[in-house]
Amino acid sequence: MQDLDGIVAKALADFAASADPASLENAKARYLGKSGELNAFRPSSGTPEERKAAGAAFNAAKQKIEQALEARRGALADAKLNERLAAEALDVTLPGRGRGSGGLHPVIRTWQRIEAIWRSIGFDVADGPEIETDWYNFTALNNPENHPARSMQDTFYVDLKDEQGLPLLLRTHTSPMQVRYARMHAEKLRQKAEWAAIKVIAPGRTYRVDSDATHSPMFHQVEGLWIDEDISFADLKGTYTEFLRRFFEIDDLEVRFRPSFFPFTEPSAEIDMMFKSGTLKGRWLEISGSGQVHPTVVRNFGLDPEKYIGFAFGSGLERLTMLRYGIEDLRLFFDDDLRFLEQFS
Ligand code: PHE
Repeated sequence: MQDLDGIVAKALADFAASADPASLENAKARYLGKSGELNAFRPSSGTPEERKAAGAAFNAAKQKIEQALEARRGALADAKLNERLAAEALDVTLPGRGRGSGGLHPVIRTWQRIEAIWRSIGFDVADGPEIETDWYNFTALNNPENHPARSMQDTFYVDLKDEQGLPLLLRTHTSPMQVRYARMHAEKLRQKAEWAAIKVIAPGRTYRVDSDATHSPMFHQVEGLWIDEDISFADLKGTYTEFLRRFFEIDDLEVRFRPSFFPFTEPSAEIDMMFKSGTLKGRWLEISGSGQVHPTVVRNFGLDPEKYIGFAFGSGLERLTMLRYGIEDLRLFFDDDLRFLEQFS
């Protein structure tokens, strides 16, 4: 049979070998529990002196085991805490991760500059649908069905029809906004109401079936329209030249109007410009389509072309952006390459 010291030694060894609280509590039951090994040594016979001595030895053994149990419990709890502290350690000296600051896309920068400049010379800014009807995109702009001029723009048609049974399309230019805006404001202009001028720009996305280094299926244009009783080509030249000077932040540039054709303007002109310095110095650069709004279009505005006259222009935002920043390939705008985009933020 084992003696008390043997039980104590075994209990201490078992506690030390218990690697987690659950096995420690199991070991405890084996020694200190009701039917644990220690209980067999509880003194129950002999003379009072013998029982006193045996009782003292029993209590001493029990105390040793209980102390060892407490110590092991403490050690296991410490180990667990240390483990958590190690796992959750925070190095407060590490630099913060910060919040990456995004930037505006260069074409959006151009868009915002354009709005600010034209607003400052009294133009309203209008927005309109990218899915258009055949009438607004072509017919109202003096571009009748089956007219060869329609093939100037290769069109994305949508699988939906308008009220006249004609297919809807992705607008091929911002020019339908001339008609939408003018029809909304014609009545006020006729009544000579205050702030009634039709004097607006309409920037936005446009779409054509076209894709190479200088064309992308989606691109941006800004439409300009100024209609009143006496708006002339001189006003176009004055306002557009002022716009270019402020957009490029260069006073010394030359502008010329080169005869062209659009169904919705007569006469029509391409606006070319030339820098007098810098890398593009001395080259005529095509910038915008423009012209005096065609009488048929003025009629479609709901206005009498004998009385109302004015100009329109349509300029490409990508083109303006490329010239301003010296970008060579249009596709860079749509590649989402951060090395390119970060240069503008
Ligand atoms: N809408 C024409 C185009 O996309 C540009 C333009 C607009 C020309 C207004 C004249 C007047 O090519």
